[in-house]
Amino acid sequence: SVSEPLKVMISGAPASGKGTQSQLLVNKFGLIHISTGDILRAEVSSGTEIGKKAKEYMNAGLLVPDEIVTAMVTARLLCEDAKTKGWLLDGYPRSFDQAQSLEKLKIRPDLYVILDVPDETLIDRCIGRRLDPVTGKIYHLKSFPPETEEIRARLITRPDDTEEKVTSRLEIYKQNAEAILSTYSNILKKVNGNRSKEEVFAEIESLVSQVQKDKEKAIKSG
Ligand code: AP5
Repeated sequence: SVSEPLKVMISGAPASGKGTQSQLLVNKFGLIHISTGDILRAEVSSGTEIGKKAKEYMNAGLLVPDEIVTAMVTARLLCEDAKTKGWLLDGYPRSFDQAQSLEKLKIRPDLYVILDVPDETLIDRCIGRRLDPVTGKIYHLKSFPPETEEIRARLITRPDDTEEKVTSRLEIYKQNAEAILSTYSNILKKVNGNRSKEEVFAEIESLVSQVQKDKEKAIKSG
């Protein structure tokens, strides 16, 4: 490729659509999707040491301690595939300290996308969310129902998707969001996430394409 690999962060409140947009972005740009929520859920379901430590925090809707998550993310970002294909980081950094950990390692994104969605929509999205454990695809009982009865029968609900836990997750998000923005103020783009997923994607896709073009230009001009 003519350009340096793309480095993108996607952020936003619980259920703002980070996972949904990440699946679309990864298909389009071939980036390595690094989702801390997905990695942690995989550790929990395979019963690893990390999973055992993380489980109680996650099920309570609280943040998993930094030392666990930061080691996990930095190891993944430094893998060869992420370095050559570029990455899309979803769910990290989630606090000022986490953002500073990446800064210290000189790991900086080209673009920081924030999905903006009103609180009342977030609760409804969480309550209706279902995951397909076979394909990893994200569904919603009303907005994106499963295509077949076979898929419907195997869908799972996340233990942290109750109204009470979503409220707690949203509170923690709001406590941390501002402090993270200061680290990325020169590259952040706020996107209205309260539209169809196609409309949201069209905007993010054009932001990422623009960054890609700028990087190519910068390389050509030396
Ligand atoms: P994580 O999995 O990252 O949870 P989250 O941030 O709460 O985000 P969600 O996965 O709930 O939502 P999303 O934005 O991906 O939305 P989605 O696309 O699924 O983290 C889980 C837990 O892990 C944390 O609580 C914490 O314990 C731990 N953890 C993770 N990272 C950590 C870190 N860095 N430090 C410490 N702890 C950490 O969409 C939601 C629903 O809406 C779906 O049903 C979808 O179909 C629907 N939907 C999506 N887009 C649209 C649209 N445009 N219109 C209508 N419906 C839509």
